[in-house]
Amino acid sequence: MTGSVDTTFRLRWERFGPEVEASLTAVYGDRGPEVSDRVRGLVRAALDARPADLRELDERRLLAPDWLQDPRQVGYVAYADRFAGTLAGVGEHLDHLAGLGVTYLHLMPLLRPRPGPNDGGYAVMDYRAVREDLGTMDDLRALTARLRERGICLEVDLVLNHVAAEHDWARRARAGEQRYRDYFLAFDDRGLPDAYEASLPEVFPDFAPGNFTFDDELGAWVWTTFNAWQWDVNWANPDVFCEYLDIICHLANAGVEVLRLDAIAFIWKRMGTSCQNQPEVHHLTRALRKAVRVAAPGVAFKAEAIVGPDDLLPYLGVGEHHGRVSDMAYHNSLMVQLWSALASRDTRLTEVALGRFAPKPTTTTWGTYVRCHDDIGWAVTDADAAAVGLDGFAHRAFLSDFYAGLAPGSFARGLVFQHNPATGDRRISGTLASLAGLETALAAGDPGRIDDAVARILLLHAVIAGFGGVPLLYMGDEVGMLNDAGWADEPGHDDDNRWVHRPRMDWAAVAAAEADPASPSGRILAGLRHVLAVRRSTPHLHASVESRVVPSPDPRLLVLRRDHPLGPMVQVYNVSEGEVALPAAVVGDVLGREASELLGGHRWNLATDVLPVRPYQALWFTA
Ligand code: GLC
Repeated sequence: MTGSVDTTFRLRWERFGPEVEASLTAVYGDRGPEVSDRVRGLVRAALDARPADLRELDERRLLAPDWLQDPRQVGYVAYADRFAGTLAGVGEHLDHLAGLGVTYLHLMPLLRPRPGPNDGGYAVMDYRAVREDLGTMDDLRALTARLRERGICLEVDLVLNHVAAEHDWARRARAGEQRYRDYFLAFDDRGLPDAYEASLPEVFPDFAPGNFTFDDELGAWVWTTFNAWQWDVNWANPDVFCEYLDIICHLANAGVEVLRLDAIAFIWKRMGTSCQNQPEVHHLTRALRKAVRVAAPGVAFKAEAIVGPDDLLPYLGVGEHHGRVSDMAYHNSLMVQLWSALASRDTRLTEVALGRFAPKPTTTTWGTYVRCHDDIGWAVTDADAAAVGLDGFAHRAFLSDFYAGLAPGSFARGLVFQHNPATGDRRISGTLASLAGLETALAAGDPGRIDDAVARILLLHAVIAGFGGVPLLYMGDEVGMLNDAGWADEPGHDDDNRWVHRPRMDWAAVAAAEADPASPSGRILAGLRHVLAVRRSTPHLHASVESRVVPSPDPRLLVLRRDHPLGPMVQVYNVSEGEVALPAAVVGDVLGREASELLGGHRWNLATDVLPVRPYQALWFTA
């Protein structure tokens, strides 16, 4: 057996080692080759330690390198404790996930966080231990094995921009160990921090203003992009690179299959910039990914880069890095545009914003989502807004008002998160159902409005299921869970209203939805299962194919086209509560005189003048 591991290692290092070294040299200069040697040793040890079942998984992945692009992939995102109490508890709810066709489970931060406030687990104190109340590393291993049996991969957050101030590295830095002080960005006086601040934005202007925190014990200003107790680590130090690579291999060997690269945009700092999206970020990610492919080729990276459209594609790899950085990235722009279109009943801005994207590398995929555990920031650029005659500032303000329920005629019930008076930004918190109008409709007891809200929820999911990429369902959305009225009651949550949309899973609501398919939640659950089932049997949705915008004849419709080798597909989405007559030629010119509409399961005659598109209807046509 050792002979074959030697061969495997040799072949993989021959294949990926040069890329590791090239990227490390781009970042660390002369030290690149030496760091690359350390990496070689690290990944060899990790490969040696890789359990047999995971080596088998690696082989399976190598045989299907497009596994994440397959339309059979369906993602689900949950907090283990809020979903099922513990990691072992999660394993008891796999039938529910299977019922939705879930193949990809993202469990929110589960590694040991600092005690006290911890940013929903994004302040990690120990990457090699599980949060005590959730279980142990052995429980994590057991869960991943159980998930694998059901064909579900596990994604875990890798927080690599910062550690908790209580992490051992920070503790030793404070104790005076220079080696660990060098893991952080610490400044004796305000000189450099002030110079950096001149061009740095603020992530949490409300509860954590500024980007530096004075630490008495360290006697220095520490870089803290997020909260004061989240210390940014210094990626310019190759020791930090090696530490994180080792952590990744450790998690991979515990059975974690996808790593969510948290806040990846922030890891490289450069004076005079926003300290986001720097070229070194892509080199570092590429070097990590290629190194991991030697030790655990089954493992994939998902970039959490909530950045503008021009900055997003490099996380999947452009130019010399084409397709070589992450396997997946969140399509934040699609998410924002869907909410914008629903509020304005107008897809023209959506067309411009999506039309601006260059094609992603064909070997990569999007993570598509309608909302997540974070707030929604109105990432609409002034240029895109101007292209459709809107004022960017005014439109962003309109969206904030609309989703906070302040605009006349708004159906939404969200909360304003992090109002930034300097920029006018007001991000929004709220569950999908509350933002989509179910809360106000139920309160009004208005069946028509309830129908609209249910239809909006299903429309949004049809788009993310049909766009190409892994649709990521958020826990509770499958039964239309509303905002959590008690969100502020838990210790440490009251200043962070993102908890309003992180409710505990309502299993009674799931049972009720199953028992009464005509209820609003029953319709949402059944509707979602249906959309996902159709997706599974539609090869046209393979993520190597791009969704391209077709100029819509009516601003209330979004029309997308996908050119798959099996034939073209046209998707039509009505973002309004009115019926819209679509000139049949829009579809017929692509598909001919007749087409199958997959979601409704009927043949449509396209040799006619217009096609009626019902309120919030989604249509997926193939020849
Ligand atoms: C990511 C997470 C967010 C967290 C931040 C800092 O953006 O999604 O919840 O606050 O990183 O780790």
